[in-house]
Amino acid sequence: MNELQFLGSDPGAVKHGNFINYYSFHSPAQRITNLHDNMFPATTTKEPILCLDIGCNTGELTKELQAYIKKIYTESDIYFLAVDIDQTLIQRAKETNPCPYTTYETLNVMDEADRQVVKKYLEDHGKQTFDITFCFSVTMWIHLNNGDEGLEQFLQYIKSISTTIIIEPQPWNCYRNAQKRIKKSGSTFPLYETLKIRSNVDLEIENVMIQNGHKKVYESGSSSWNRKIQSYTK
Ligand SMILES: C[S@@+](CC[C@H](N)C(=O)[O-])C[C@H]1O[C@@H](n2cnc3c(N)ncnc32)[C@H](O)[C@@H]1O
Repeated sequence: MNELQFLGSDPGAVKHGNFINYYSFHSPAQRITNLHDNMFPATTTKEPILCLDIGCNTGELTKELQAYIKKIYTESDIYFLAVDIDQTLIQRAKETNPCPYTTYETLNVMDEADRQVVKKYLEDHGKQTFDITFCFSVTMWIHLNNGDEGLEQFLQYIKSISTTIIIEPQPWNCYRNAQKRIKKSGSTFPLYETLKIRSNVDLEIENVMIQNGHKKVYESGSSSWNRKIQSYTK
């Protein structure tokens, strides 16, 4: 069975958070209201701004993010590499949310060969790091599928390729709900019981993010669904 398909009869019972109808429930316009200009580095550059959106789903939030950034960096062209593990979602993103200077790619950010695609994109733009990387509601799926070590390795990876990181981690109660939902459909996250990082997952993520060069510059209040957006920069 394709591991990206939903399980049983519940389209919400997915292994990677690859919900096909995500934006029917989570309005991108509403999500954007939790951003703040202070999350983004101040610059008067006219150079292009290079952004990475990890786990872009069908691109609705990507499009809003691009419009938001354009208002901050009015003089610059805004380039986005928007990636997702699920090719059906990427296909839909290309069809329904094309944006200028935006490249949608199917890739798994935990896969070494797929990371070469990201590296190549940076090289093609003459850069070693993205100016801004967005990571919204993705850390839990990485964590559930790759364990504590996988989560830390992912965070180190995004730090190594990003100047500024805007991240919205899921709190532990979301993990419990995801496990309950997948169990109802007869499956499980096999690594769930092995996770040592649990109730303090936000703090553990912050601890890794502030090591070796990045510092925290902003944290939003909790959204209506109990998630905070944080900004880290070098
Ligand atoms: C809950 S959705 C969030 C979508 C979007 N970032 C947002 O906040 O509106 C999580 C997305 O991350 C993607 N994803 C999960 N694991 C991934 C991985 N290892 N590599 C790339 N994308 C991944 C899923 O397919 C899904 O579209």
